[in-house]
Amino acid sequence: MHTFELAFESGTRRCRVRAGDGVLDRLLGELKDSAPARRLFVVSDSNVFPLHGDPLARRLADSGFDVTCLTFPAGEGSKTRETKAELEDRLFELEAGRDCALVAVGGGVTGDLAGFVAATWHRGVPVIQVPTTLLSMVDASLGGKTGVNLSYGKNLLGAFHQPWGVYADVATLRTLPEFAYREGFAEAIKTAFIADAGLFDFLDGKRDGLLHREPEPLTELAGRCMRIKGEVAMADEREGGKRAMLNFGHTVAHAIEAASDYGVSHGDAVAAGMAVEARIAVARHGMPEQDAQRLDGLLAGYGLPVAVPGGLEATALLAGARRDKKNREGQLRVAVPVALGRMPEGADPTVAVSEGELLEALQKGRN
Ligand SMILES: NC(=O)c1ccc[n+]([C@@H]2O[C@H](COP(=O)([O-])OP(=O)(O)OC[C@H]3O[C@@H](n4cnc5c(N)ncnc54)[C@H](O)[C@@H]3O)[C@@H](O)[C@H]2O)c1
Repeated sequence: MHTFELAFESGTRRCRVRAGDGVLDRLLGELKDSAPARRLFVVSDSNVFPLHGDPLARRLADSGFDVTCLTFPAGEGSKTRETKAELEDRLFELEAGRDCALVAVGGGVTGDLAGFVAATWHRGVPVIQVPTTLLSMVDASLGGKTGVNLSYGKNLLGAFHQPWGVYADVATLRTLPEFAYREGFAEAIKTAFIADAGLFDFLDGKRDGLLHREPEPLTELAGRCMRIKGEVAMADEREGGKRAMLNFGHTVAHAIEAASDYGVSHGDAVAAGMAVEARIAVARHGMPEQDAQRLDGLLAGYGLPVAVPGGLEATALLAGARRDKKNREGQLRVAVPVALGRMPEGADPTVAVSEGELLEALQKGRN
């Protein structure tokens, strides 16, 4: 069984990235040689802690580290200032100084929350990301974005804080509920569609093995997605331009999430969002119609939607799209490819679209 590994440099910092079956063994070995701290705080949610957080904490303690576990209730509802403050109060009570590091074991919620605590505790202590959902392996754990939601919107408060390392052990995915597992493929398909036609073919060809959670294709998928996400994010760490290409499908996805009051999951919203935005890509960039059809086919093959869920009002969707952070001077902007595996050249991968164009694409993509 091979392990995928690479490293990214950010200023004077180095971020190690590992993916594979059993890479938590690697984490233990690499920490023994070059730990960023001897005092570690393992942060997990209430679902992941007994499955993966506690076993890892015990192994770290057996290796001689001073380990304390911090947990919080599972779910997006915990990605708040309040939970962050509770974790910080615990760190204060436990007299955590600058010489500690956090180990985030869980999905994107844990990674974003623990990453944000690490970014601000004593003005920044190291964080090690141990993603346990497919979504966090292929996307959320890399790139350094951390943060919490406010009642006004998602991810409004946060910081960029590159992890010391990302260790994606595909064995942890065996315990992930089916719906959460399937959702992760939306971001994996997005990554392939914007940057790597070969990876798109891989997702197509290895579908059965991937859906059965076989470690070999999962390692390759996680590793290839991590390389792309890492390269794009590190080339434009603060999202001044190029990084916006990772937002393919997300303008419409955020609009669907908001219009459904977050009743539609992020993965389903991204899948439907890509199907809609691919129509804009055909109209605006002359993307081959066949590429849009292949996208729809692959999404459907992974049980993901290819149309906006029925019952969502066009006006509510437009209102959501107007709040998108890529918009400039009141003009809607979307990041859409020119062909399967290829985004527009140049520093800004977005194009301006009128509300009429967006509405037309939404109408074509309705259930
Ligand atoms: N920072 C970024 O760049 C970035 C990118 C994309 C998404 N995100 C964020 O990620 C979050 C979504 O991430 P998510 O989908 O991983 O959600 P999540 O962390 O809530 O995990 C989903 C569910 O699966 C459970 N779970 C996680 N791993 C498990 C495992 N191995 N076995 C059993 N249960 C497990 C969790 O307890 C939770 O109930 C959102 O808040 C989103 O904003 C961040």
